[in-house]
Amino acid sequence: MIAKVSVLAALTATLSAVNAQTFHRLGTCPTLGCILPPDQQDFLPGQYFDLRFEVHAPVNGSEAFNKGVPDEKFTGTITKDGGSPKNIADYFKVSEPQLEKWTFSWYEDLFARDAKNKTIVNAASKIYRRIALNEPGTYKIKLNYYSNKTTEATWVVRPIAKTKKAKNIIFFIGDGMTTNMITAARLLAHKSINGKYQTKFALDQMPVIGHQMTHSIDSFITDSANSASALYSGHKSTVNAMGVYVDSSPDSFDDPKVETIVEIITRLWGSAWGAVSTAFMADATPIALATHTRTRGMYGPLIDQMLNGVTNYTWTKMNGPDVFFGGGAEQFLPGSGSYQGKDYYDAFAKKGYTVSLNKTSLLKADDSKKALGIFCTGNLPVWLDRNIFPDNLKKLKNDPSGNKSAALDLPGLKEMTLKAIDVLHKRGGDKGFFLMSEAASIDKQMHALDYSRALGDLMELDDTLKATIEKLEKIGELNNTLIVVSADHGHGFDVFGNADTKYLAAQKDDRKKRDAVGVYANSGLSGYQMEQPGISYNTGANFPVNWDPRYAIAPGFGANPDHRENYRVNKSPRVPAVDGLPGFGKDNYFVNPADNTDGFIVNGTLPTEEAQGVHSLTDVPVYARGPCSDLFQGTYNNIDIFYKMAECFGLGQPSHGTGNGTSPGCKKH
Ligand SMILES: *[C@@H]1O[C@H](CO)[C@@H](O)[C@H](O)[C@H]1NC(C)=O
Ligand SMILES: *[C@@H]1O[C@H](CO)[C@@H](O)[C@H](O)[C@H]1NC(C)=O
Ligand SMILES: *[C@@H]1O[C@H](CO)[C@@H](O)[C@H](O)[C@H]1NC(C)=O
Ligand SMILES: *[C@@H]1O[C@H](CO)[C@@H](O)[C@H](O)[C@H]1NC(C)=O
Ligand SMILES: *[C@@H]1O[C@H](CO)[C@@H](O)[C@H](O)[C@H]1NC(C)=O
Ligand SMILES: *[C@@H]1O[C@H](CO)[C@@H](O)[C@H](O)[C@H]1NC(C)=O
Ligand SMILES: *[C@@H]1O[C@H](CO)[C@@H](O)[C@H](O)[C@H]1NC(C)=O
Ligand SMILES: *[C@@H]1O[C@H](CO)[C@@H](O)[C@H](O)[C@H]1NC(C)=O
Ligand SMILES: *[C@@H]1O[C@H](CO)[C@@H](O)[C@H](O)[C@H]1NC(C)=O
Ligand SMILES: [Zn+2]
Repeated sequence: MIAKVSVLAALTATLSAVNAQTFHRLGTCPTLGCILPPDQQDFLPGQYFDLRFEVHAPVNGSEAFNKGVPDEKFTGTITKDGGSPKNIADYFKVSEPQLEKWTFSWYEDLFARDAKNKTIVNAASKIYRRIALNEPGTYKIKLNYYSNKTTEATWVVRPIAKTKKAKNIIFFIGDGMTTNMITAARLLAHKSINGKYQTKFALDQMPVIGHQMTHSIDSFITDSANSASALYSGHKSTVNAMGVYVDSSPDSFDDPKVETIVEIITRLWGSAWGAVSTAFMADATPIALATHTRTRGMYGPLIDQMLNGVTNYTWTKMNGPDVFFGGGAEQFLPGSGSYQGKDYYDAFAKKGYTVSLNKTSLLKADDSKKALGIFCTGNLPVWLDRNIFPDNLKKLKNDPSGNKSAALDLPGLKEMTLKAIDVLHKRGGDKGFFLMSEAASIDKQMHALDYSRALGDLMELDDTLKATIEKLEKIGELNNTLIVVSADHGHGFDVFGNADTKYLAAQKDDRKKRDAVGVYANSGLSGYQMEQPGISYNTGANFPVNWDPRYAIAPGFGANPDHRENYRVNKSPRVPAVDGLPGFGKDNYFVNPADNTDGFIVNGTLPTEEAQGVHSLTDVPVYARGPCSDLFQGTYNNIDIFYKMAECFGLGQPSHGTGNGTSPGCKKH
């Protein structure tokens, strides 16, 4: 897909100065007529999606038009490969949808934001729900509006792929994981003699490696919602959105949807599927597998959608995952965080799920039943706290029963993933399975500049990969299973030397403390694999022997809030910056006075309202092994990961839906 490289450049060139920058009227719509999905989008043959047209009439601001009255008589056509244009409803054999109207507002720039000077826009729209393009090729969509204006979109439907070349797919996502983080974790976790590692990560032994570009559809820095969406659906989206193209209407759930990989797998093959994460399960990476919203923060409704499918709009019917393991009890316990205050443990149980709230009961759960496992409120405590600083767990009030005691019988990513394989293998049978397993806190702890906690969870991901390969071998499924390990985006993290933490702590002023950082020749060797008398962490292979050596790595970020560094492992989870300090005020973040008190201040590079580090532009690695792994070589777009998995799983098939969401699609014999 060489052509994809120019997509962003081409798109940007057509945007007006206003629309290309900080704020958007609608990111994918530089003109007053919007086609969603917009220009340059790719589709899998038979993949269901919604098509929305919008016509905008700005009431005021720099684009004010037609006295704020949007054209209601707009028309749309579709033309395949130079054929003749056809009316949308006729082409897709659906009835003409009703006209919708709404008003929205936006800021044209930062000056307008500061002055609270909103631009008001009236919109008229139609949405054609659950349609599909079955034949590969190029399609032109044309929207005609205001009598002589047109907007065009070119779409590409990828080749048919009906053959299932892999029985199972396991997709590991190290959230926020970059090559730089893997390199740093390797330095901590493996012993090197004279520049040569004596052991390696399982990742380092994967036969195929590639490289993916993570841009959003309308911003070059992505978040985990729209990047997960790209990975799972082959369609890029906007920050905070998943499984949809963002429209301008106020409803968070009415945006035009695209079918995700598990929706297609379920529809075509009836394979089992599951999600495992160390995050709360309503978080973007696990929830985006089978939900659709422009607002990732709608946690409660999203858990309902995961279980019951999309209920308010015509869409592919879903019956809940076969496996759903992670944190986030808030959205299950009856009360504040759950949808309509309902008990979702009970709702899952009523649909035949085993419900486990701790590791002991998880391991005992019946493999032949659908399985829900929610082990705490919030995110799962990280590997470092579970294994090295367990006293930190006792301070938490995160029991998944909601009784405010500490959840102590916790599984890690490895236990959850291995159990998920047992259940999915059993339930998928000959139809195989799809599993997504996420190491979420690589990202979450990098946001907190808590390097040790982030790298510990990266090591746990690798340990899980190793155990997964062993398990698949044991159950005779290794040769049948495509394993892909990648990330959804990165952080600008790297290591630039070591720090003599003892010398650093002993110095009085910040500039002298910085003298403790050893670069080039003074970076020396890793202290993390050196035994230290009196310190035994007993954490086994793949992890440091000593998490707190005198000579520690000196890492930093491309972007960070003001914070203080001493480069030592944080004995409890880190909070680098806080707001509300004397002289600063609310949402104005400065160095947390309690963090690394003997360190030196590193001035931030971010807006002062940012409490944490942020995502960065970097490409991220893709590792693969098993059937079709060769497809994953090279440099490509994040959406291509979806198309590669779809090709391997035979998901590119014409569907015979009629648009009302009840027809089963093309069943495979
Ligand atoms: C609001 O924005 C408009 C258009 O950009 C500008 O003409 C006007 O001066 C602004 N008003 C204020 C109060 O800043
Ligand atoms: C547009 O009109 C609204 C409501 O009258 C007003 O509050 C806003 O400042 C105007 N915006 C611009 C950019 O002129
Ligand atoms: C488009 O139509 C409007 C009136 O609807 C007219 O004012 C304008 O000149 C037309 N533009 C072109 C390029 O024909
Ligand atoms: C679905 O529609 C019902 C009835 O209008 C409404 O109460 C509910 O909030 C909607 N659900 C979502 C997720 O929007
Ligand atoms: C684990 O869950 C089971 C089943 O709910 C319960 O009986 C048991 O007491 C729990 N164990 C712990 C340590 O909380
Ligand atoms: C909370 O529930 C857990 C799991 O059932 C139990 O182990 C723990 O003792 C309970 N704590 C309190 C304070 O009731
Ligand atoms: C998997 O494939 C390899 C290479 O083709 C072969 O040597 C091995 O025996 C196969 N293992 C199983 C369990 O089929
Ligand atoms: C951080 O920036 C402030 C100005 O914002 C400056 O006064 C201070 O010296 C800087 N600190 C360091 C450690 O460079
Ligand atoms: C959906 O379309 C099919 C085929 O035209 C039809 O049999 C079925 O009744 C429709 N279902 C609904 C809910 O409209
Ligand atoms: Zn993040």
